[in-house]
Amino acid sequence: MEARSLLSGVSSNSTPLLQQPKKSIFVTLPSPYSSFNQSLKWVSFKTRYSSKLVSERVGTKMGLECKNSVDEVGDFTATDDYFLNGVRRKKLAVFVSGGGSNFRSIHEAAIQGSVHGDVVVLVTNKPGCGGAGYARDNAIPVILSPRTKDVSDGLSSTDLVTALRRFEVDFILLAGYLKLISVELIRAYPRSILNIHPSLLPSFGGKGYYGMKVHKAVIASGARYSGPTVHFVDEHYDTGRILAQRVVPVLANDTAEELAARVLHEEHRLYVEVTAALCEERIIWREDGVPLIQNRENLNEYS
Ligand code: GRF
Repeated sequence: MEARSLLSGVSSNSTPLLQQPKKSIFVTLPSPYSSFNQSLKWVSFKTRYSSKLVSERVGTKMGLECKNSVDEVGDFTATDDYFLNGVRRKKLAVFVSGGGSNFRSIHEAAIQGSVHGDVVVLVTNKPGCGGAGYARDNAIPVILSPRTKDVSDGLSSTDLVTALRRFEVDFILLAGYLKLISVELIRAYPRSILNIHPSLLPSFGGKGYYGMKVHKAVIASGARYSGPTVHFVDEHYDTGRILAQRVVPVLANDTAEELAARVLHEEHRLYVEVTAALCEERIIWREDGVPLIQNRENLNEYS
């Protein structure tokens, strides 16, 4: 979409998507490794930051330490790559209930530099899921939420908001998280929570449309195209504002599994691209409430 066609649509005082930078958050440490032993009841873990990764982020500083409580974090140091073209590096929370392949692709993109942000915490309602395992293997803190009879040590929605605040989370990325997001969380993070859905919304979305059910319904409908949608999250399933979509063909002999694999492949690319735009503050809200992505190379172009 050309900028020209948007001029009447973009309000002169359109709300920039992102909150203003709060504060710098790197802590200096004398050692290349540090322990993160949070005293709060929902998480207890040790985190090791490699000196390579840390030194890339904090220059000559050697690490990040949060000890016993994130309240103790202090002595922050802003560094060269912490700001990119004047934009602060963002902190991401990813929510998963399953295998976590989208989570993994976003985490990898953050590490190799195409996303100007870091996954600082993983939230799950399934402590044994693949996404939680990947987080633990990569020293990413894991929070359980919500509290259910199966997950008795899960956090309530109020405590979850408190926990995410303590991690100074800027954005929340839902990636196969099957629980409805609480109103408290939506209010605490306005225009800051994204979800990825494996169909072209508003078709084949809503309660009950998850996993293979989506792809089976697409094939049964006779639709010739499907593909992932990234949208902002509101208090209902799959109804928030659409931010980005990718089209994937539905082939004549597709099984649900084949279609799912083709869509998932595009999901990984799309979610990384959208997360990059989010972290670089390239999301613009049109006057009628539709969010658009500003092209990185041509700032007059939106999609
Ligand atoms: C994806 O298909 C996503 O669209 C949906 O849940 C699935 C998660 O897959 N919301 P994974 O856990 O990222 O592999």
